[in-house]
Amino acid sequence: MTKKIYITTPIYYPSAKLHLGHAYTTIIADVLARYKKMQGYEVFFLTGSDEHGQKIAKKADENKQTPQKFVDDIVVGFKNLWKNLNIDYDKFIRTTDKNNILSVQKIFRKLLKQNDIYLGKYEGSYCISCEEFLTDSQINKTNNTCKICQGNITTLSEPSYFLKLEKYTKQLLKYYDEHPLFLWPLNRKTEMINNFITPGLENLSVTRTSFTWGVPVLENPKHVIYVWIDALSNYLTGLGYLQDDDINFKKFWLDSNCEIVNLVGKEISRFHMIYWPILLMALNLRQPNRILAHGWITNEEGKMSKSKGNVIDPLVLVNRYGADGLRFFLMKEIIIGHDAKYSHELFLNCYNSYLVNDLGNLLSRTVTMIIKYCDGKIPKVNLNKLQPEAIEIIKIIKSTINDFNIEMDEYQIHEAINVVFKLITSGNKLIDLTKPWDLHKNNKTIELHNILNLLANILIISSALLSPILVNSSLKIHEQLGVLKITKPIVNINLNEVFNKSVNKKELLFPRLNIEDELSFLNNAFK
Ligand code: ME8
Ligand code: MG
Repeated sequence: MTKKIYITTPIYYPSAKLHLGHAYTTIIADVLARYKKMQGYEVFFLTGSDEHGQKIAKKADENKQTPQKFVDDIVVGFKNLWKNLNIDYDKFIRTTDKNNILSVQKIFRKLLKQNDIYLGKYEGSYCISCEEFLTDSQINKTNNTCKICQGNITTLSEPSYFLKLEKYTKQLLKYYDEHPLFLWPLNRKTEMINNFITPGLENLSVTRTSFTWGVPVLENPKHVIYVWIDALSNYLTGLGYLQDDDINFKKFWLDSNCEIVNLVGKEISRFHMIYWPILLMALNLRQPNRILAHGWITNEEGKMSKSKGNVIDPLVLVNRYGADGLRFFLMKEIIIGHDAKYSHELFLNCYNSYLVNDLGNLLSRTVTMIIKYCDGKIPKVNLNKLQPEAIEIIKIIKSTINDFNIEMDEYQIHEAINVVFKLITSGNKLIDLTKPWDLHKNNKTIELHNILNLLANILIISSALLSPILVNSSLKIHEQLGVLKITKPIVNINLNEVFNKSVNKKELLFPRLNIEDELSFLNNAFK
């Protein structure tokens, strides 16, 4: 039986262009999807856009456009960004897709019929920028602004349908208890319980009447469905839930052996860790295995965000340093679950230290020596005549593969990368230590061949492991070493499989960046 995994990102608001934060989440999803594919999984990777609601309606209005035209234009940019970042999603869902609208109406109807939704009146505070009903603890009392986005708060008083949350509180807490890895990192669970559940879950207002840009309630068309109910449902409707073609829903959601992972940023934890599981309980559907909330990319002004405008456009970085450069930086330098500062210096130094000095350098030294000492053919390793340094390296190669997989399976992508870079560093040290040029001069052919073979293997294995992150460069490394792309998990390493492959020197993989020049380029680009 093939193993399966369903991976999702949040669907982003097309209220403005996407920035580094959105790229970060989507790259994590893409890296996991590619890693799982290499492990033999059947993968479904969903991303998309969250197009309804008051915030979008307001933005479109400010731009003197219809909401549909407004979002259509911005979504073209989303897809273009994903293409440039090598994001290989299986489906891009738009909440304005006919199928989504129809399914959301069916979901609403079902919940209304079974009395999980009832008509009432909402009175309270609302943050349009977050599209969130706020509790007292979420409001800055001094200036009446939202603690999450610092935006202004609106007071609402309008008829509304409500989703019964109280009814499911006990069941939710029980589910948390029985599934200790459901919410991750673990401190999110404590936060959900202390901030929202223990004070008492109020029933959730799930429709609005003061604007029309949303999915109409069929039973009462003055109401449009609250944008978050529409949005959360995307994880089901994107697979075809309550649609004629529900083959993917059956294949992925209904298969209890299929792993389901929802990736989100921590500011939308409440929606994904409380409302979303309750919605699934009310629909009598299984829960995801993991709801993984990562931290924020910040800069001097705090969280990078569309509404603050303090953003880095990922396309500028991709166009100058390549998709791999950016993917690598975000995955290497950020610990999933923690906040991380972005600065141009950090980005540039990361590129030079790891990609240029460690990986790029090992590649060019190795290829040069194989051309010089072995006529461009990878030599044989002689397992019966291994020098101590070679024995040590073979051990490291084996443990690298094992440790890499362990870290990736725990979503510790930065640690997985560190594991591989330890191997790459050992490769560079091996050259310094064994001095292949001396082995050549002294006619120590067996020793020389052992070392050059191992160096080639270190590069091939490292770049295969890093291929979910370094999508293009890993291929180029394999090409330079005369081997085909490795698409399967590496289980048994046969060091002599690469014997006699022809290496070739191509363009420099990662040209060294002049930090001063690049800083002035970037400061100028983001003025
Ligand atoms: O919340 N650091 O959409 P959104 C890290 N439509 N990640 C960041 C980030 C930052 N500074 N800024 C944004 C919405 N993100 C809803 C989601 S899902 C059913 C509906 C990423 O456009 C992160 O994943 O505000 C965050 O959760 C998401 O973008 C919010 O995107
Ligand atoms: Mg947001």
